[in-house]
Amino acid sequence: MKLEKVSLEMRDLETAIRKHQYFYYLENSPKIKDKEFDILFQKLKKLEEKYPDLISESSPTKLVGSDLSSSGDFAKFKHKIPVLSLENTYNLDELMEWVNKTGLDENYSVEWKIDGASIVLYYNQGILTNAVTRGSGGVGDDVTDNIKTIESIPHKLSSKINLYVRGEVFMNFSDFDDFNEEYGGRFANPRNLTAGSIKHKYASEVAKRPLRLFVYDAFFPDGRGKIVTNSLALQKLKDFKLPLAPDSIIVSGSKLSKTVESFRKKKDSMGFPIDGLVIKLDDLRKRDALGETSHSPRWARAYKFDALIQETTIEEIIPQVGRTGKITPRARVKPVKLAGTTVTYATLHNQDYINELGVGIGAKVRISKRGEIIPAVEEVVEPGLQGIFQLPKKCPSCKSILSKVDESVDLFCTNKNCPERERHSILFFCQKKQMDIDGLGVKQIDLFYDKGWVRNIGDLYDLHTKKDQIETLEGFGAKSVKIILEGIEKSKNKDLRILLPSIGLHELGHKVVEILIENGYTSIESLLDLVKKPDAAEELNSIHGIGPRTAQAIVTQLNDKTIQKLINKLMNSGLNFRAAESEKSDHRPFEGQAWCVTGSFDRFQPRDTAMDLIVKHGGRKVTSVSSKTTHLLYGEGAGSKLDKAKELGLQIINESEFLNILSKENILID
Ligand code: IVH
Repeated sequence: MKLEKVSLEMRDLETAIRKHQYFYYLENSPKIKDKEFDILFQKLKKLEEKYPDLISESSPTKLVGSDLSSSGDFAKFKHKIPVLSLENTYNLDELMEWVNKTGLDENYSVEWKIDGASIVLYYNQGILTNAVTRGSGGVGDDVTDNIKTIESIPHKLSSKINLYVRGEVFMNFSDFDDFNEEYGGRFANPRNLTAGSIKHKYASEVAKRPLRLFVYDAFFPDGRGKIVTNSLALQKLKDFKLPLAPDSIIVSGSKLSKTVESFRKKKDSMGFPIDGLVIKLDDLRKRDALGETSHSPRWARAYKFDALIQETTIEEIIPQVGRTGKITPRARVKPVKLAGTTVTYATLHNQDYINELGVGIGAKVRISKRGEIIPAVEEVVEPGLQGIFQLPKKCPSCKSILSKVDESVDLFCTNKNCPERERHSILFFCQKKQMDIDGLGVKQIDLFYDKGWVRNIGDLYDLHTKKDQIETLEGFGAKSVKIILEGIEKSKNKDLRILLPSIGLHELGHKVVEILIENGYTSIESLLDLVKKPDAAEELNSIHGIGPRTAQAIVTQLNDKTIQKLINKLMNSGLNFRAAESEKSDHRPFEGQAWCVTGSFDRFQPRDTAMDLIVKHGGRKVTSVSSKTTHLLYGEGAGSKLDKAKELGLQIINESEFLNILSKENILID
């Protein structure tokens, strides 16, 4: 009887929380105070802790920590306009050839080509009724509730007009970095996180993500009247308070090369992902006269920056299993020279990307290096005969069923003992950014793994017992074995700051470990003692910068017998599970202040070097802007943190002001 009552109370709380999330995020009109909402939320959480058997699958408390699939099943929406793509050009000559053909004296708009996710907003009688992904171009997913959580999008226009608007949802680099750090660095890039976020099952979760939108195209289904150019159409969108992308300008075709150059120079300072420019004829009647192909308009071209491009053919698509279990489809291509190296593999990111390109084995494709190391398949020149590639349902390494974790775009193998995951965990541990062990790359680790000598990172520290055997292997000599074994030995001295993130536990990345150390957990023993306590998760969650998801992940993993066994093994091997005291100065002008940092800086790279100075001289470093923060140090590309700091009236300091403070205080930059 009692249990039944509790269960009813929990269901009521869930309903109430969902209702208020709806009012808050979707209607933009909260019906209760934040504090009251928190009370409801905490009440449900307490009951869930006490009665775990009664937790509902779709509990709103699970939205943060849920490892279940979060990709929504969205209603399909048939687009009312053809949602076309763009034809690409890869150098100025190619672009100018098109301009010459289209009209050198015509006016063209030059706009940033933002690398996010395409969206169409449908306003009926001035009300935003549908927000739809591009999908196949004909039919997309209706993601209205999710898109409505983006702050800058008006839900209602000042006139009862029918209007369709195209735009790009994206994320600022600094917002992405902050968010990704909080989630243990699991997202590959802002584009992926954006695509995943707009297809998330729960709008309340989407609301927490720093999504933004820029619009670039308008359709007036009832006729465009006096709007005869794209610039006038964009002005109309601006009047309706829709967010236009910055910098778009109109130039004559003859001035295009110069304009493209000045955009190119500015690109890296924009703070959001840009993969080129879009050049469009401004005169709408001339656009109509040129028309479009089934794929793209004849009146516009994309111009890709520095994209070193090659055509080749896909010979095979191999799903690769990463350390976290994430499956990345890699295309093996007919070898081609690209930017000085011979490329044999290019990434296809995920199934969504494959579908968008319509790519499969045998396809003739263009691959590029976009300033990144791994080349990507950019577009399909001729589709192969085998149709669009489908990722398998089972892990190619251990055959366990793949599932979607957290985000809709990626598939994961969740088997912790998957051989491929184990191999990648060992590789991750040895990387330069982690334990920095020389001489251990893919080849060596694969070999030692296959021999059964190194099956996990703990085994690395027994590798010396195999010294003689390794020396007899092909490709190894006394010298290379010495380098490896010395590297392993040297790694034993690495600090907890490096060691703990290198183990590769969920949510325990560099940032979280740093916060734990700052809060007194300076040894593995102190953490293992903590997680034994019944209220460990709560205690961790009360630390500023550690959310409930992270807190729970730490408790669960550090109580896991396999993980404890690994830690023990590493301890017995003599690894250093302690953090050295950070250097403190007697000169403490920042005493009593709590500083947060956002954006990127000229003189402080990584930006934490600025924070180290603040901490050394008495200040406290915090990871998010709240009423407890006193100062925000902001750099290029600062995002939502800057807005929030302004809202809260905090002291806002830019790089040159900070340099002034340092020089006034006689603090030297190392
Ligand atoms: S115009 C018919 N303008 O790039 C008009 N697209 O590769 C076609 N994109 O699907 C699109 N910034 O998602 C246009 N300023 C911009 C853009 C832009 C980003 C994206 C958009 C489109 C894709 C085509």
